[in-house]
Amino acid sequence: MRKEILSPQKTEYDAEAEVPHERDVRPRRLSEYIGQEKVKNGLRIFIEAAKTRGESLDHILLYGPPGVGKTTLAYVIAHELNVNIKITSGPILEKIGDLAAILTNLEEREVLFIDEIHRLNRSVEEMLYPALEEYKLDILIGQGPGAKILRIDIPRFTLIGATTRAGLLTSPLRNRFGVTTRLDYYNDQEVVSIIERSAKIMGLEIEADAAMEIARRTRGTPRIANRLLRRIRDYAQVKLQKIVDVPCVVEAFNILDVDENGFDSMDRRLLDTIIDKFGGGPVGIESLATSLSEDKETLEDVYEPYLIQKGYLHRTTRGRMATPLAYEYLKKNQKLGEDTLI
Ligand SMILES: Nc1ncnc2c1ncn2[C@@H]1O[C@H](COP(=O)(O)OP(=O)(O)OP(=O)(O)O)[C@@H](O)[C@H]1O
Ligand SMILES: [Mg+2]
Repeated sequence: MRKEILSPQKTEYDAEAEVPHERDVRPRRLSEYIGQEKVKNGLRIFIEAAKTRGESLDHILLYGPPGVGKTTLAYVIAHELNVNIKITSGPILEKIGDLAAILTNLEEREVLFIDEIHRLNRSVEEMLYPALEEYKLDILIGQGPGAKILRIDIPRFTLIGATTRAGLLTSPLRNRFGVTTRLDYYNDQEVVSIIERSAKIMGLEIEADAAMEIARRTRGTPRIANRLLRRIRDYAQVKLQKIVDVPCVVEAFNILDVDENGFDSMDRRLLDTIIDKFGGGPVGIESLATSLSEDKETLEDVYEPYLIQKGYLHRTTRGRMATPLAYEYLKKNQKLGEDTLI
């Protein structure tokens, strides 16, 4: 899988997230979690109500594109509930025994976070149903005709599931969540707030219009905002620039090959391929993926959503189509395109 600087997916750069002051940019409380106001307002009420009753919070499904704060929000919710959080993910939970071990070791009201919950295998998922609904676990004892099902109680816990693909969840699983919440891309102003907050934590001074200049190129994604900010900090440090201003940001972006839309060479290649090779489309995702030597899921999860949201790409039943905006963009960026389209 390609790991572009603008990919909202976790990359080797995230190793930096483990450096103590980098880890600190992750918000811990709802009050530090920027944007997503509607989501936060709802959660505040549900959390308060559950705390007052001394009960576990209802199960929550968080979905949305990569890097928009699903994992962060799961930690925030556990923190606001004053409970521990145990972390696992769909592909890690291979056997029903793995899930049984986790569920029986939870404390009352604790949060279990299952990332990539759309990738649970069938038997593990089915074991989860009674656990979610009745806080019971069905364990098969023995084999053959003498086998028995033993039903045991487990603590009343809260499941927080996260996925970039809510559509891939089976309906029995989806229906067992009391709250289903979509996290979306952030607007420029919200990204500015995220950048200013992170810059402060990193001890980096940044002018307001420079923060906006960065925000515009982050695809509305906090993970990209923090990553670009780190690269700009590197640039400012090397150039002995004490305060990050617009020229500093623009120069840094030239080096990073990120244009004013926040598109990188992969976005340009994608649009260019649809227009040049497939006459503007419609082209099926499989052919597009083969042409770009990229896997289908990465195109669908990482690149397409933003291009579609911004009106550069159109998804039809017959395939992907470039919009007039895409033609205009490529014409304007011909020079850039030629540089990168090798
Ligand atoms: N609302 C927010 N306010 C401030 N910072 C945020 C916010 N949301 C996310 N971030 C920052 O962006 C980074 C990426 O967020 P996070 O890891 O939660 O994304 P995700 O949706 O779980 O992504 P993935 O789908 O790849 O798992 C976090 O480390 C955090 O610092
Ligand atoms: Mg995550």
